[in-house]
Amino acid sequence: MIIVGGSSSRDLAKELAGILDCTYIQAASTKFPDGECYTRIDAEALDDDVVIVQNTYPNDSLIEMFLIQDAVRRLGARSVTLVIPYFGYARQDRVFKPGEPESAKVMCQHLALVCDRVITIDIHKEAVLDYFPCRHTDLKAAAVIADYFKGKGIDLVLSPDIGAAGRAKDVGDRMGVPSDHLNKTRLSGTEVRIAPATFDVAGKNVLIVDDMISTGGTIVTAASALRDAGAASVAVACTHGVFVNNAIERLTGSALSAVLCCNTLENEVSHISVAGLIADALRE
Ligand code: R5P
Repeated sequence: MIIVGGSSSRDLAKELAGILDCTYIQAASTKFPDGECYTRIDAEALDDDVVIVQNTYPNDSLIEMFLIQDAVRRLGARSVTLVIPYFGYARQDRVFKPGEPESAKVMCQHLALVCDRVITIDIHKEAVLDYFPCRHTDLKAAAVIADYFKGKGIDLVLSPDIGAAGRAKDVGDRMGVPSDHLNKTRLSGTEVRIAPATFDVAGKNVLIVDDMISTGGTIVTAASALRDAGAASVAVACTHGVFVNNAIERLTGSALSAVLCCNTLENEVSHISVAGLIADALRE
């Protein structure tokens, strides 16, 4: 097996190759003067099963993925597995208003052109993967998040909304602590309202878990509501730290005691690695 790392997932791809003890090749990607993407795989041939590790977010990474796919196929890859740690466009998974595209489906159809297997991590809607005609697996980061926080004094695991209650329960059960959910109403792209908790958080060390943090609006509001209700501390861990518009500064300057995310998107707080999870899936 050969691991090819795209520019969005350098450290993760390298770590994965180390765990699997297989060859690692970093795609050499740069930009043409006009901003178009250029990439090259420095190898004579890839006569092996090839695993590409690359996000489809932001847009440049998506283009780079398409180009790497073509390059590895031309180099003779026996099979091509796409590991897409953060699958961009997964949230536009249906036509919400007439005239819109089904963006997630479009992405799958194009990525499927050179692809024998797909692995994602906590994709926003798992059903999106059914658009791939090949084998697909969505891995759950709950285990590595729970391992990271085990023994760190967490009393309660919460999700910011009912939709993510299953994730909070999964993390809580693995840590052996109770879990529950808050109730969120989205007011705008950057603002949410969190209803007062209907359970007791006074004096507790709370961990909020979510699939992603984008602007940070959800988590900042939830943390402030929990501290107002008497929580001793509030930490947050998400799978995908998208962190748009200085969200990390917004979060670290808030009522939170810790901000952590997985390395599906690599940044200064992505200290929880999903490499082991991916390695286990690839060994199957
Ligand atoms: C929503 O469905 C997601 O699980 C996240 O809660 C949301 O995307 C977070 O966005 P933001 O950080 O902008 O509040």
